[in-house]
Amino acid sequence: MKVLFRQPFPNLKINSSRMLRNQSHKPVMLEQAIKYLNPKNGHNFLDMTFGAGGHTERILQENNSAVVYCLDRDPTAYSIAQKFSLQYPNRVVSLKGKFSDLPTLLKKFDCKMNSFDGILFDFGASSMQFDTASRGFAISKNGPLDMRMDPEENILTAADILAKADQTDLYKIFKIYGEEKHSKKIANAIIESRYLFRPLKTTYDLCELVKNVCDNEKRFDMLHRLAHPATKIFQALRIFVNNELNEINHGIILANHYLKIGGIMVTIAFHSLEDTIVKRHIQGNVNENVANVLPLKYKTSPIHMNSSNDFLNVINDNCWHQVNKHVVTPTIDEVEENPRSRSARLRAAIKIK
Ligand SMILES: C[S@@+](CC[C@H](N)C(=O)[O-])C[C@H]1O[C@@H](n2cnc3c(N)ncnc32)[C@H](O)[C@@H]1O
Repeated sequence: MKVLFRQPFPNLKINSSRMLRNQSHKPVMLEQAIKYLNPKNGHNFLDMTFGAGGHTERILQENNSAVVYCLDRDPTAYSIAQKFSLQYPNRVVSLKGKFSDLPTLLKKFDCKMNSFDGILFDFGASSMQFDTASRGFAISKNGPLDMRMDPEENILTAADILAKADQTDLYKIFKIYGEEKHSKKIANAIIESRYLFRPLKTTYDLCELVKNVCDNEKRFDMLHRLAHPATKIFQALRIFVNNELNEINHGIILANHYLKIGGIMVTIAFHSLEDTIVKRHIQGNVNENVANVLPLKYKTSPIHMNSSNDFLNVINDNCWHQVNKHVVTPTIDEVEENPRSRSARLRAAIKIK
């Protein structure tokens, strides 16, 4: 029989009753993240993706005087962070905004360059966002096609983009941010639906359209469970609506600015688009503050023409030292307990200059 997919967890047996119990929020790769952050009394941390506060809570509990600055662009997450600040007096600072808003938000607290001992990023959307139908993130729940992480922000929703973008732009969004092989056909069908006066308003409208275009093609996720054919289209729209990749690029630059020399950055990424940006920064493969799409080592630059191994010469203006040689992935037990962790990849890097 032809193997059509790669099974990354061959020994994993999904225990369906445990899975059903675990639909509420569970912080991903908590033990590993805490091991690298190593919170101690008197340390200052920045949780760039507070969410439901799973990682922050553990940092606070590991000692009795570390302070955590908690950032999130989502108003629900922000209100949870505000509750944390009452529960842990003088130890939690709640900040509402995007990674790119950080300098403005921190000014008020007189946080300067080299202020933090550890910075954590746990990218993507939260369980709360996925589990709330009205936010429009989930394929499995019918709701308006919104997908803004901050519904108060004046930006286009997923429905706006599906109603306004032209065929070429829709194709690029699906291809680049979703790596969807049927991007062209799906973009065409969306344009056609406009002429048929069937605007796509809800998550189920979009799911139905993609399912029809893909002719009910069977797809599987990393755990060999049946995946909806619209999964990648939802991912692509979410990334585009929230400008996620540019935000990550910006966030890593800011993390480098605000970390102390010797401080640690921990990132948890859920797909290669996110992880590649982090990796390029850690490797020093950034040019004019943009993580390069192509690794610089494959570019022949006049600067390196005189060295003996031109081709493999990396521009080594590197401010990071990656602690773990390879990405760290969740244990089989964690994936069994929390299937949402299945694609997580953790990196830890120390700021060296
Ligand atoms: C995966 S969740 C974090 C979960 C959290 N670590 C926990 O244990 O509860 C990611 C969170 O990051 C937030 N987020 C994503 N991109 C952001 C950005 N550019 N700026 C601020 N918050 C962002 C989302 O709103 C979401 O709440």
